[in-house]
Amino acid sequence: LSKEHQDVLSAYEWLTKLYHHLLRFTKDGKEGYSYFKERGISEETIDAFQLGFASNTKDFTAEFLQKKGFHQQVLIKSGLLTLHEDNSVSDRFRGRVIFPIRNHLGKTIAFGGRTITEQEPKYLNSSESKLFQKNKILYNFDLAKKHIRKSSEAVLFEGYMDVISAYQAGVKNVIATLGTALTENQAKLLRRYVDTIVLCYDSDKAGIEATYKAANILRKVGCQVKIARMDEGMDPDEYIEAYGGDAFQNKVIKASGTYMSFYMRYLKKDYNLNLEGDRIEYVENVLKELAMIDSSVEREYYLKELSNEYNLSMDTLTEEIHKYRQNMG
Ligand code: CTP
Ligand code: MN
Ligand code: MN
Ligand code: MN
Ligand code: MN
Repeated sequence: LSKEHQDVLSAYEWLTKLYHHLLRFTKDGKEGYSYFKERGISEETIDAFQLGFASNTKDFTAEFLQKKGFHQQVLIKSGLLTLHEDNSVSDRFRGRVIFPIRNHLGKTIAFGGRTITEQEPKYLNSSESKLFQKNKILYNFDLAKKHIRKSSEAVLFEGYMDVISAYQAGVKNVIATLGTALTENQAKLLRRYVDTIVLCYDSDKAGIEATYKAANILRKVGCQVKIARMDEGMDPDEYIEAYGGDAFQNKVIKASGTYMSFYMRYLKKDYNLNLEGDRIEYVENVLKELAMIDSSVEREYYLKELSNEYNLSMDTLTEEIHKYRQNMG
């Protein structure tokens, strides 16, 4: 590690402690503390994730770090300060609750900061640098790793709060991407630790699209993919808040379904299944996907479902899928 990298890591270490201290023990951080309390986050969890609060006082962070002897150049590179056009700098995080983003060794390499007053953007991250590349990091991987190994499964979420709520509720093999689509990089990293990924994204339109994309990236690198389902519109944190951790474990994670059953639902969005032509096209497209499944038991299982739902004979469906499989070579 270069001297500059070491300085950046050291700045993050100081600030992680300072922001956490502010939140836990000072008047200045009281609103951050109350925010997490209202969201049902315990002190133990606040400590485990080193959650913090960045003061709203102007230049609070810049002054603290300059007093510690850090050079401004380093701090700008670290993504902690914002450089303006007139060359002045200001604190990047002000009046936000802070989620330290840790690397696989547990060292903070960036912050996510959430507004507690409905400001835009809702979440602000440290700017990217050599040290912090969003598409290479999975949030909470350091704490989740041993639980992922033990359960032979990783649960992948969209957000910080999903991870934290699930972890607090006892579901600890949990990680998240940082508000970006899952990359092949991240998928390969995961693949080295685990076969099976349970995708548990928000149950809204964006989440469902992201699920489709992530599932295919994971399949491409050789992961088994399972897909969790929640009531429409909910995210995992909201589910846990509404129904508790046991329900989340048993009715969402353990009850997660196969990629194929997700795909059969997902594909319906492109068709008006009241129309005959659309129904036929839908079935054809499902068959194309089904043809790629190697297990004949699994194929038959879904063929039966199609057969029942669209009133087509198993013979016809089997004959058709056979054609697709032959074309695959
Ligand atoms: N995100 C981001 N920038 C935004 C919005 C979201 O980086 N402007 C990232 C954050 O990592 C966030 C994740 O995307 O945790 C998921 O976004 P979203 O579902 O909108 O937020 P929640 O995690 O549900 O946030 P909260 O429960 O705090 O409202
Ligand atoms: Mn909550
Ligand atoms: Mn979302
Ligand atoms: Mn969400
Ligand atoms: Mn949420």
